[in-house]
Amino acid sequence: MTMKHKQLIQICAGDRGGSRLAKTSIAAALAVVLCTLPIPQKPASAGLIPQEKEVLEGREHEFGDAFVVSLGGKLYDDFWQASGASPPTRRNPAFPSDITAGDSDSWRCVSCHGWDYDGADKAPGSKQQRKQFVSVRHLQGVDPFKVSELFARAHADHPVQATGGLQLDLIILFVSVGQYETRNFKPYKAVTPERLNRGRDIFEGVCMSCHDPDGKSGLEMRPGLRRSLGWLARNKPKRAMHKIINGVPGQSMLALRFLEETVITDLLAYLKTLDP
Ligand code: HEC
Ligand code: HEC
Repeated sequence: MTMKHKQLIQICAGDRGGSRLAKTSIAAALAVVLCTLPIPQKPASAGLIPQEKEVLEGREHEFGDAFVVSLGGKLYDDFWQASGASPPTRRNPAFPSDITAGDSDSWRCVSCHGWDYDGADKAPGSKQQRKQFVSVRHLQGVDPFKVSELFARAHADHPVQATGGLQLDLIILFVSVGQYETRNFKPYKAVTPERLNRGRDIFEGVCMSCHDPDGKSGLEMRPGLRRSLGWLARNKPKRAMHKIINGVPGQSMLALRFLEETVITDLLAYLKTLDP
């Protein structure tokens, strides 16, 4: 909720009898105008859930590993959406100038290291992209303290350095223990009916309520992406895998890290059948 909405609610609440603010004539006049306007609805799912805030406030020890590591995965995806911090307003000078990207996107870990942590997709022939879009896969299983050192050496100027310890620690933890194994994720050459049924059971049991039976609801419009889980599973499978395992920053989307990765592959295989 923005500051403006908070004030609006305060003034309207005052109008129903209470706040001193609303008793001043200007505020009262304003309230007459404003309170007849509908209060903008916050999207049903936007914002951090209280438990994510608790982790970010330093109570990570009160939660299990999967929840905490997945939050690290969301911070890797979009640090500012996942932490609620204000995004940087300058573009990352290291980010390839041959790609259009918003200021904060140019700093997102995923923008350079990719959805499978093996380096973002590079355009053929772009030297800048080849230089910047590098893998961090070799860091899976490496001691977080070591990863933290390497991060500090490579990214002394990254804005997450300024936000203090814990959020950055969670990303480091994710990089060192949270990466999915790409070998589990090779799309099956021939998907057996059993596997498709397993995927279907998960979809109908947990996904359908938000994304509809055709997998085309509950997704925002984004340039270059279709609002269809089937399309995403087919064309952006690494992105889909990361988001299904870790959830979506600041959204009510689930984090299925507790499932075996091969089961999530079955789910992806089923999703593809929704949008042939
Ligand atoms: C503009 C692209 C870019 C962004 C954004 C970016 N990185 Fe990097 N990262 C690199 C490059 C390039 C290197 C290699 C630098 C070097 O070797 O000096 C690197 C190196 C690293 C390393 C050290 C790898 C090693 O083996 O030494 C880690 C860890 C890392 N990045 C994590 C992250 C995390 C976490 C984020 C998000 C907070 C992030 N990076 C954001 C481009 C990027
Ligand atoms: C509680 C509602 C809810 C449920 C249940 C849910 N999702 Fe989501 N899902 C969301 C929301 C909200 C988003 C974020 C929408 C956005 O940012 O476009 C999202 C985003 C996604 C995305 C990322 C889309 C992108 O940007 O690439 C994928 C993939 C996805 N969901 C798949 C699933 C699957 C598979 C299931 C079942 C295991 C599932 N969702 C269950 C609410 C839900």
